[in-house]
Amino acid sequence: MCGIIGYVGKKDAKKVLINGLQTLEYRGYDSAGIAYFSDRVIRILKTVGKVSCLKDKVAEQAGNDATTCGIGHTRWATHGGVSDTNSHPHTAGKVTLIHNGIIENYKELQEELAEKGRFPVSQTDTEIAAMVIDDCYHGDPENAIRNAVRKLQGAYGFCIMFEDIPETIYAIRNGSPLVAAHTDRGSIIASDMVALVSYTKQYFVLKEGHIAKMTKDEILVRDENGSVYGPNIHHISWDVAAAKKGGYDYFMMKEIREQPAALRNTIKPRMVNGLPDFTADEVSDDIFHDISRIVITACGTAMHAGLMGKNMIERLCRVPVTVDIASEFRYQDPIIDDKTLLITVSQSGETADTLAALRLAKERGAKTLSVVNVKGSSIARESDYVLYTHAGPEIAVASTKAYSVQVAVMYLIAFRLAYVSGKISEEETKHYMSEMMFTVDQVEEVLGYDNQVESIAKRLKKTEDIFYLGRGLDYALSCEGSLKLKEISYIHCEAYAAGELKHGTISLITDNVPVIALATQPDVYAKIISNVQEVRSRGAKVILITTPGAAVDAVLCDHQITLPETDPLFSPFVAAVVLQYLAYYVAVEKGLNVDQPRNLAKSVTVE
Ligand code: M6R
Repeated sequence: MCGIIGYVGKKDAKKVLINGLQTLEYRGYDSAGIAYFSDRVIRILKTVGKVSCLKDKVAEQAGNDATTCGIGHTRWATHGGVSDTNSHPHTAGKVTLIHNGIIENYKELQEELAEKGRFPVSQTDTEIAAMVIDDCYHGDPENAIRNAVRKLQGAYGFCIMFEDIPETIYAIRNGSPLVAAHTDRGSIIASDMVALVSYTKQYFVLKEGHIAKMTKDEILVRDENGSVYGPNIHHISWDVAAAKKGGYDYFMMKEIREQPAALRNTIKPRMVNGLPDFTADEVSDDIFHDISRIVITACGTAMHAGLMGKNMIERLCRVPVTVDIASEFRYQDPIIDDKTLLITVSQSGETADTLAALRLAKERGAKTLSVVNVKGSSIARESDYVLYTHAGPEIAVASTKAYSVQVAVMYLIAFRLAYVSGKISEEETKHYMSEMMFTVDQVEEVLGYDNQVESIAKRLKKTEDIFYLGRGLDYALSCEGSLKLKEISYIHCEAYAAGELKHGTISLITDNVPVIALATQPDVYAKIISNVQEVRSRGAKVILITTPGAAVDAVLCDHQITLPETDPLFSPFVAAVVLQYLAYYVAVEKGLNVDQPRNLAKSVTVE
């Protein structure tokens, strides 16, 4: 949520900032702005709209400004509407800053400042933060920042410039991510390493509460006590090309097509002698000992991966599993104790609600395991154990490859737990593992269904409501298919457990309402087909997704998509591609920006 970048070094800072903001735009695209030192004076340029609008403005109005130090921001609006005034950077007195997060007590702080005769010009919480820092500034910037953040409640990642300290950027964070690197070309900091990777592959994560002072020669980090701190350096394992579109119109399509590779990268290193093995992840089987239940918590797509996990773990391990939406979890006084294994699932590893759920569960004594894509992210660092997914960077707001690999890791957890607890034999475990690897080939095959799905999508583009139906694993997958469709095509869509429809929702089924039915599970095949009959006889337009050999009455559906032959337990991996394609092509048909759907941002670092 909001992308921030700071650079000081030998290069043209305007260019570095604009390039960086373009890579960070998926984090928010309401407005963008930069501030930089030029001739020892801070200049600010900002505008509503995409980074491309800012780029044009900078070219027109600041093309000749020489600068080697600046900060930049791409906004996902929280407090205050989308306007130039509310865009970052914000200035108060000697302080200019950019912010990712929310200052929750900004109203009270605003009142305190008003008593001192200080009033903001924007409606943002960020400007209040700038005013508080300026109010604390009496010549010592780190002291000012330290004293100011004591007054702030909420989440923040700040990059700050002081008018009287040229060529220097200060940064601090709480909750919101910041990664930084120093190279012989200068110092750079950003909310995501996608903005760093074209400069360096070595980076560090700024710890919460630490202050980074960045100059062209070094980044000096001090901890809460003011002592110099040497941060741990991490290595980015993917290439700069991974964060580029590579000839595709949209990142989403590129990422859909990267799924076979992402799945192999995630599964193969954990397959030792044919068995699931987490030794290299330093996740010992102790986490499975002495647990009475598993709680999975996550948001959005990641939560849907958790639903798959519940299904597999309960089926194979006979351990009770609940899946909680992270934003609800912490406010419902969850029943968690030292016999609970809490699994958090998160692509970014920074989702505020998921992080808060993790912290609460730790406080209550749970063992914690996270399934995370971004190395060194907050959720990964704060969990007892981490199983990284190896999807590479996911840029499109709509999650695709990250979902598939999250599901794969949930399956691996189920297999390992079932195996070590003696619920399935070595032979069965090996069978499951090899079936899962085989499924990756089927995922590759189903990538070739694009034309077929596109032609169905063309017929859906004018629709206002769509329903997904499924049972068991198909229902869990339906939830994800439905989220994908509404997220990027703006069509209202609901996923229903097929048997539940007749308890109310079937009243919404009228002539030509599209119903997408997933029928890949043999144990409930006859049941779902009956449910399809029920909607069909009320006029629904049915798109049926089935497996080879399924006996389908020709009058039952308008379109049938037959998946490649797959073990039913693994069919969600294959069917997921069809659902992702469907959402993608409907959005393309409607002429929408697939990668940057309205009102959304990729990484949700506010509650
Ligand atoms: O980074 P996370 O996996 O924690 O993000 C959670 C959700 O915000 C995310 O999965 C969201 O639902 C997807 N972008 C939807 O496609």
